[in-house]
Amino acid sequence: MSILVTGGAGYIGSHTVVELYNAGYEAVIVDNLSNSSRESLKRVEELTGKQIKFYEADIRDRQAMDRIFEENKIDSVIHFAGLKAVGESTVKPIEYYDNNIGGTLTLVQSMRDHGVKNIVFSSSATVYGDPAFVPITEECPKGVCTNPYGWTKSMLEQILTDMQKADKEWNVILLRYFNPIGAHKSGRIGENPNGIPNNLMPYITQVAIGKLDHLSVFGNDYKTHDGTGVRDYIHVVDLALGHVKAIKKLADNPGTRVYNLGTGVGYSVLDLVNAFEKVTGVKVPYVITARRPGDIDACYSDATRAKEELGWEAQYGIEDMCRDAWNWQSKNPNGFEA
Ligand code: NAD
Ligand code: UFG
Repeated sequence: MSILVTGGAGYIGSHTVVELYNAGYEAVIVDNLSNSSRESLKRVEELTGKQIKFYEADIRDRQAMDRIFEENKIDSVIHFAGLKAVGESTVKPIEYYDNNIGGTLTLVQSMRDHGVKNIVFSSSATVYGDPAFVPITEECPKGVCTNPYGWTKSMLEQILTDMQKADKEWNVILLRYFNPIGAHKSGRIGENPNGIPNNLMPYITQVAIGKLDHLSVFGNDYKTHDGTGVRDYIHVVDLALGHVKAIKKLADNPGTRVYNLGTGVGYSVLDLVNAFEKVTGVKVPYVITARRPGDIDACYSDATRAKEELGWEAQYGIEDMCRDAWNWQSKNPNGFEA
């Protein structure tokens, strides 16, 4: 069975393609390489031992999308392609709405016109805003997003839900990821941020390898056990496996379904630093600085629904995540660049 993976050269996409092949699926990838490289695809081929059909194209390009559906017998789509930098989205809102919303609209129109009506969408815990309660179940009301990136996810969830309401042939699964970190255990693929990382784990690994001087811990006066922000970190391979389960679910269950993908356990910034130091033996110097605007105290999942309905549960713990993130960073100090 062939799955079209948009954004399949990226961080989560590349890990998902590996797990799709491990589970016996075939993948076709479309990516415009705006935030990824051919090298990650080469390494996915090396890990799977398969030649993967790749289209270098923009999902906003209707002709290119039509060609992909005409040339391949696609059963379902896993839709990762999108811009994801929270800070950048506040200075380039038009580009974010155009890419994420425009791209998804073009994709689903092309899908519909080719009779492909199964889609798994990358959403985010960001749609809960400052959550009404933790741990967050899928029943938690969606909240006010603090940036255009978050709004694209929230709006796209609505668009895909409305689309399915109007045409019951659509099968839509919205996956709300918590905080993906870590890398494939081989150390061949991993997260490769451009420039100075915005997210905590790649920042930690770049401090650990000596590219950055120290970590700034954004605030220690949050309402958490040690005052630093608490998040639900999830191993990217667990997340990838969640997509394989979602693809299986699409086949037997029409409608729109929403699932949290998280571990259900919250760790603070300092918990993550301590776990990283323990596992790697490398010190991560840090200083406490002001809060980062838009950050919340705590965000962690109740992932019971995914367990009950998808048969999915995170397998990896925080130490695995730290070990694998460090393995990737230390083997690839410059990411996918030689
Ligand atoms: P990523 O940037 O590594 O991967 C996204 C891929 O999409 C990149 O390879 C990029 O080149 C491609 N892309 C972007 N716009 C495109 C377009 N118009 N046409 C074709 N390709 C395009 O990001 P990721 O971390 O792998 O995230 C994948 C998805 O998961 C994104 O939609 C992201 O918003 C979502 N998500 C990520 C996180 C996270 O913390 N990493 C959390 C929640 C949700
Ligand atoms: N943090 C620091 N220093 C840093 C970076 C982060 O102290 O240099 C702290 C933050 O304040 C926060 C925690 O580490 O408390 C995690 O921050 P990240 O930037 O790694 O992750 P966020 O929870 O802010 O956001 C991430 C993704 C979003 C996604 C959200 C929910 O970046 O795209 O998870 O899934 F929407």
